[in-house]
Amino acid sequence: EKEPVTVLVTGAAGQIGYALLPMIARGVMLGPDQPVIIHMLDIEPAAEALNGVKMELIDAAFPLLKDVVATTDVVEACQGVNIAVMVGGFPRKEGMERKDVMSKNVSIYKAQASALEQHAAPDCKVLVVANPANTNALILKEFAPSIPEKNITCLTRLDHNRALGQISEKLNVHVSDVWNVIIWGNHSSTQYPDINHATVKTTNGEKSVRDAIANDNWLNTEFITTVQQRGATIIKARKLSSALSAASAACDHIRDWVLGTPKGTWVSMGVYSDGSYGIQPGIMYSFPVTCEKGQWSIVNGLKIDELSREKMDATAKELMDEKTLAYSCLIDD
Ligand code: NAI
Repeated sequence: EKEPVTVLVTGAAGQIGYALLPMIARGVMLGPDQPVIIHMLDIEPAAEALNGVKMELIDAAFPLLKDVVATTDVVEACQGVNIAVMVGGFPRKEGMERKDVMSKNVSIYKAQASALEQHAAPDCKVLVVANPANTNALILKEFAPSIPEKNITCLTRLDHNRALGQISEKLNVHVSDVWNVIIWGNHSSTQYPDINHATVKTTNGEKSVRDAIANDNWLNTEFITTVQQRGATIIKARKLSSALSAASAACDHIRDWVLGTPKGTWVSMGVYSDGSYGIQPGIMYSFPVTCEKGQWSIVNGLKIDELSREKMDATAKELMDEKTLAYSCLIDD
């Protein structure tokens, strides 16, 4: 039997945590033959609820789950962690300024960065889910300088999967017959879902999604806004965040990163920009990536048209603004 992998989930008593933890314990994230140890972190007011989740994980009698730690101590939570899924954060409440929310999350991610750096396994892979996801990941990277920057990512796979879903619904094909959409930029409403390089398998063979849909107007407007606004639409319908699909996307993100992307396909991941596609280095930006042997690499050389260029730059600009705001919170700190 394989050695167990230790997975940390922060914000584990929350909505996404509740959907994500059983997926991890069932092998959805790391494969059906990979035993896991789960570390769950939340804050004091959620300690009792967290303990309830721990009881349920025990009661579910998962064959792959070798141990569960539920704690409000960040040092204990980070001990020996191989994979860290950062779902905990401070949500935006009604009437709160953007800066106040940013400031709360900057302090959380600064503190958790240090704890991970000191106590996690040296090759720990980090996925930030909590919003503002890209900027929380950037703060984590800045305050954990000994963790390789390639090991720190944020979640845009949910947006990627949403784009696949919209295309498959429109064409009435199965979602697995659509591939190579791209989410560029921020996990926010400025993200750019790009189908210019996407392919669909039809009964008449493989086609570009643009040709198969043959409706540029829909693709350039409604499709984009539907994907950008999907999170808000789900909150409106459920009165709760899109926890199920976020949890599933987090598993997809880690699984593909660790086990590799299928040949000929890529996925979207928020990663530290290396300047690819003219996106300034120094921000966490979602790019198309392929993964092999636990390493992601940006897919280079895709042709970018004018509309795409504009949208890619607009979301980069928002990330630069968020970065400035985050740094101004650090100074006040
Ligand atoms: P939630 O409010 O149900 O759960 C968040 C949990 O984090 C709570 O249990 C809270 O006590 C905990 N928490 C707060 N501060 C913490 C800290 N310092 N350390 C550890 N835990 C802490 O929220 P939900 O619905 O589970 O969403 C979690 C986050 O994920 C939110 O920021 C949400 O905006 C974000 N999100 C991101 C998506 C993405 O695609 N990147 C998609 C959906 C949600």
